Amino acid sequence: MPLVSMRQLLDEAAKGGYGVGAFNVNDMEQIQAIMMAARQTKSPVIVQASRGARAFAEDLYLFRLIQAAAELNPDIPIAMHQDHGNSFETCKSAIELGYTSVMMDGSLREDGKTPSTFEENVEVTRRVVEYAHPRGVTVEGEIGVLGGVEDGHGAGGSGLEHVTDPDQAVAFAERTGVDALAIAIGTSHGAYKFSKKPDGSVLKMDILIAIHKRLPRTHLVMHGSSSVPKELQDIVNQYGGKLKPTWGVPIEEIQLGIRNGVRKINVDTDNRLAITGAIRKVFAETPEKFDPRDYLKPAREAMAKVVAERMTEFGQAGHAGDYKPIPISEIAKGYANGTLTTQPLVAAK
Ligand code: 13P
Repeated sequence: MPLVSMRQLLDEAAKGGYGVGAFNVNDMEQIQAIMMAARQTKSPVIVQASRGARAFAEDLYLFRLIQAAAELNPDIPIAMHQDHGNSFETCKSAIELGYTSVMMDGSLREDGKTPSTFEENVEVTRRVVEYAHPRGVTVEGEIGVLGGVEDGHGAGGSGLEHVTDPDQAVAFAERTGVDALAIAIGTSHGAYKFSKKPDGSVLKMDILIAIHKRLPRTHLVMHGSSSVPKELQDIVNQYGGKLKPTWGVPIEEIQLGIRNGVRKINVDTDNRLAITGAIRKVFAETPEKFDPRDYLKPAREAMAKVVAERMTEFGQAGHAGDYKPIPISEIAKGYANGTLTTQPLVAAK
């Protein structure tokens, strides 16, 4: 199956009332782990690469691996997405390479650290939409600023400093024409999100619900959505790691989000923890081993297990065969003739 438009994947998820995990990759084993889980659970999937990942893997290696994944898994719809593009040029280069979706994270300036103004964000995001849609490529924007730092990208802080204002979310969706909207509701990237199990006062689910009420057809995106399970932390620490106690986003909160318009859920840290725990275990238990396959195979299996769990929890499991991929050239026509809407439905306050 060729790579699929993320817009199609999210439109289908909205019809089916489920969420789709977007899993970060840097290398072959991570891509294979995602595809193992997608095959096992019969899930459509979003694979995403940050700027850091693209640099690490020298772009073409990673993209060819995704193409191989698509060729080897003809029954699985796969969208390839640029995570946190910091500029028009970053998004353009992903589109030229063949990515079927890009995130223009205009919530931060090009340095990937300094929060931008609303007008700056609208301007750069709209420019990316104007470039992407005629090429059939999906665009995710971000309004509000996430906490934490990932791959050198992020404003830092707790995630509660710049939560999304619902009125701004409406104006942003109207003025940019994005296909998907990442919002800030108190989550942050990385393992250290919360110092105790978060409850309603920490995660601003009320803001998410308010945004969904105003923008009932807009696909919402939850970043920083690893759950950082204690079992995964324990394996890392049991075999010599030194993680401090930490809490992630509870699955129940993500599921509440999915019932309120969340269609894309970004997960990276949980997979990193699973991989690291599995590798540490092999190193600690069999220090005489030195063939990388001896630890990369269990690492890949550990990641596949986490991804399969998330696919089931997010509800995408079982939906891989629901639809046929629309060619990207047809998606481009859909944007041009208006069958693919880019103006959000806005409900009164
Ligand atoms: P986590 O660090 O919670 O896995 O978030 C990943 C993410 O949001 C990538 O954009």
